[in-house]
Amino acid sequence: MDLGTWLRSLGLGQYERAFREAAIDDTVLPSLTAEDLKELGVHAVGHRRKLLNAIAALHADAHAKATPSDSLVTIGSSAKESAERRQVTVMFSDLVGSTALSARMDPEDLREVISAYQNCVADTVQRFDGFVARYMGDGVLVHFGYPQAHEDDAERAVRAGLELTTAVSALKSRASLKTRVGIATGLVVVGDLTGSGEAQERGIVGETPNLAARLQEIAKPNMVVICDSTRRLLGNLFELEDLGPRELNGTAGSARAWAALRASSVASRFEALRAPALTALVGRQEELELLLRRWSRAKSGEGQVVLLTGEAGIGKSRLAAAFQDLLKGDPHTRLRYFCSPHHQDSALNPLIRQLERGAGFARDDTADEKLIKLEALLAQSNAQPDEIGFIAELLSIPNAARYPLPELSPQKRKERRLMALLAQLERLAARQPVLSIYEDVQWIDPTTLELLTFAIERVQHLPVLLLIAARPEFKQPWPAYAHVTNMTLGRIGRDDGALLIRQITGDKALPGEVLQQILTRTDGVPLFIEELTKSVVESGVLTDAGDCYTLTGPLPPLAIPTSLNASLLARLDRLAPVREVAQIGAALGRQFSHELVSAVAQMPQERLDDALAQLVNSELVFRRGTPPDARYSFKHALVQDTAYDTMLRSRRQQLHGRIAATLKEQFPEIVQTQPEVLARHCAEAGLVEEAVGYWVSAGQQSIARWR
Ligand SMILES: Nc1ncnc2c1ncn2[C@@H]1O[C@H](COP(=O)(O)OP(=O)(O)OP(=O)(O)O)[C@@H](O)[C@H]1O
Ligand SMILES: [Mg+2]
Repeated sequence: MDLGTWLRSLGLGQYERAFREAAIDDTVLPSLTAEDLKELGVHAVGHRRKLLNAIAALHADAHAKATPSDSLVTIGSSAKESAERRQVTVMFSDLVGSTALSARMDPEDLREVISAYQNCVADTVQRFDGFVARYMGDGVLVHFGYPQAHEDDAERAVRAGLELTTAVSALKSRASLKTRVGIATGLVVVGDLTGSGEAQERGIVGETPNLAARLQEIAKPNMVVICDSTRRLLGNLFELEDLGPRELNGTAGSARAWAALRASSVASRFEALRAPALTALVGRQEELELLLRRWSRAKSGEGQVVLLTGEAGIGKSRLAAAFQDLLKGDPHTRLRYFCSPHHQDSALNPLIRQLERGAGFARDDTADEKLIKLEALLAQSNAQPDEIGFIAELLSIPNAARYPLPELSPQKRKERRLMALLAQLERLAARQPVLSIYEDVQWIDPTTLELLTFAIERVQHLPVLLLIAARPEFKQPWPAYAHVTNMTLGRIGRDDGALLIRQITGDKALPGEVLQQILTRTDGVPLFIEELTKSVVESGVLTDAGDCYTLTGPLPPLAIPTSLNASLLARLDRLAPVREVAQIGAALGRQFSHELVSAVAQMPQERLDDALAQLVNSELVFRRGTPPDARYSFKHALVQDTAYDTMLRSRRQQLHGRIAATLKEQFPEIVQTQPEVLARHCAEAGLVEEAVGYWVSAGQQSIARWR
């Protein structure tokens, strides 16, 4: 497919250049997200929607090519990746009572019903970037996390499952339809080729798809049942019902199962996912002091804005929480707005949710009750009747009689709505200082961004501090104002890291070797530290000896925690075309030279250099020096581990064998000065005798050094 022709067919030829400059081709096109499109400069929501729909249609085409059957569906003709080990959340959905339907329906009518059901599943899961992998009779097997991982794959699967139950019930069909959904997360091998020639297809192998199918069997009609590993990834994002340990067909023993009922009302992702284990804050004193200084300036009427940026898990939300704690005794109004990855196309969603929470809407409130609650809330900001009208309309509360709105063009209506919202901020600020927090702004919808940009300009002379937290990919559209401070959160120091670990172990000391491993592998990212420590403590390599932990045996390599797996994989998947180079680098080590990677990669130099440049641009890898003398290092040890872990054992072994051979043939100085490097590659390649020989040389050298 030609990209330019495709764009022009959508009437969006103007983006061709941007797509080409960003190296978008038909291999990555199907995995583009709204966020990617924004980065590509597609700012108009209408254009983004059009593109996303067309991309979804590409997926649908791929699905349509496979007739509903027990066969596997190819993941798209452009997929060239070989098989990989990956954590995937698998969803299995089935149509309730299809056997009964088949008994009383003409086969042709039944075919129509099943096809409507399957289309409904495909449409629903696509909205959450799930991938239909296989149609099995009236069942559908869906992957979340392959071919494209997202940090929230488990959440996406459950949201899709819940939405599916509603969508299937609403299907207009000859019979009333219901579905059952089972969801499980675990390690699988995916993308393996089976068959040959034209019949080659990609499959998924592992326990997880079976588990999802078995969980689906125990679900009641319109129920979404999830396994324990999925549940652990969801925090408090959903209301769950414990179904207890359940016997599942074809599995040994019983498994714990939960029914996902609905999304919970927890306001923020941070509170839903992280708060239960909240530890005391470590470090960040300077940042807090700066925030306090900005706050006092804001209180005096010189409004301030702080844009807090930093990578995922570095502690932006934690810092914001600590700052709010500090202000507890200080009279002020606090407003919190949370952007969400699932509502990037839903205008003003953060504002709507904030107003609903502020007014205290309950799930079963009638329109009248909601309006009364909203009036009470807006009375605090002395809202004018027309403002109440616009805001009620925003919240979809019918109010025609009480607050008639003027007839306006859609554009004028939007402007009035934004002005009504801004007016509330001004009036609240007239009563007492306001702390207004915007979280996860990398996912902001364009209308909220417009409002925020107005607010930033407007607060200059108001007692307001706007604290905006975003990941580095967020590009601020506002000009450089004197009242805006940009604050970047960096890694925490080793001492602070050790303090954080101590809190998670309940003040019990870890063996020195374990502590060092955790600190080294987590690179000062608090989220990594927390999750790796928890998984080490739970893994069984340690014994609780009262006031400390001891090792039960030799320390095995630390496994990547399940909770971090999807987020780490997502970073690599963004660069799917160059993943092979990341994997080769990962096998070479945390650091590797341009010379060595070129010798091992066996690919045209230009292609390799281009791939390395992409890894560097995306900040997965740092570079020192310029090729051919450059040295590369993975920014995060855990990203290196993830790249390494995705390779099948057989591929790893083969790659280490190639590295060992290359070292022997072309890098005699490394063989001589660092025999342990060669020993490691030989050992991983299964060349045991050679490995032993090099270990012996390494041992002799180190003895000689100490003489
Ligand atoms: N300075 C700190 N002291 C103690 N714990 C911390 C600190 N910073 C972060 N944490 C913990 O690390 C985890 C990740 O932090 P947080 O959620 O604030 O990151 P974030 O930057 O907001 O990430 P995201 O971009 O995903 O929202 C949380 O559990 C948090 O409590
Ligand atoms: Mg956060």
